[in-house]
Amino acid sequence: MVEIIPSILAADFARLAEEIAPLERGGVSMLHIDVMDGHFVPNLTVGPPLVACLRKTTKLALDVHLMITDPDRYAPAFIQAGADLVSVHQETCPHLDRTIRMIQSEGAKAGVVLNPATPVGTLENVLDLVDYVLIMSVNPGFGGQKFIPRALDKIRALDRIKRESGLEFRIEIDGGVTTGNLAGIVRAGCEWVVAGVTVFGAPDRVARVAEMQGIARGAASVCV
Ligand code: DX5
Ligand code: ZN
Repeated sequence: MVEIIPSILAADFARLAEEIAPLERGGVSMLHIDVMDGHFVPNLTVGPPLVACLRKTTKLALDVHLMITDPDRYAPAFIQAGADLVSVHQETCPHLDRTIRMIQSEGAKAGVVLNPATPVGTLENVLDLVDYVLIMSVNPGFGGQKFIPRALDKIRALDRIKRESGLEFRIEIDGGVTTGNLAGIVRAGCEWVVAGVTVFGAPDRVARVAEMQGIARGAASVCV
């Protein structure tokens, strides 16, 4: 089943509890939180205190995307604050195997993220270890950017490896997802779809998520 995962980067940060509650009642099961450090990406966002506040506010699984140069140093604090899933960029982790194991031993699901220019092959030796792989379909740092279609080739490649090797990792996409490109994303083999502006920019966010879930179901039913 395909999950639509709202990214709070596009929400009103002064009203997060009110922004999230209707989505939770409307059937969303995960929330995406973008952590940016102003070094790895040219933007700054939030830290563990916000995750701790969200943890008190919602039962949704908190999917924390670390766009920071030193994830080994900060991942444990995010997990202690209540993150259920933590993803780190391949580009920031010289000891990726160790980082993945550390996140899992701290009690969270571990994901690895690939920037648009980073090949899937760089994950060959950790795919049996990771819980999920996040394919960036924009260069990270900002919401509301244009989708980079090459991400679909990377999803297809990962899906093929997954099937051929009998592995269990999930495939997530992040950046520029719209109601127009969603069907192609699902047909390529993606199961977890992050959406910022497409959800929070909609006049009726719950209806938009339902619309996206419908598109995803339709596309999944024609997958071969
Ligand atoms: C970009 C972030 C994304 C962002 C996606 O660096 O990782 O999660 O919120 O936003 P949209 O869906 O608006 O492109
Ligand atoms: Zn993200």
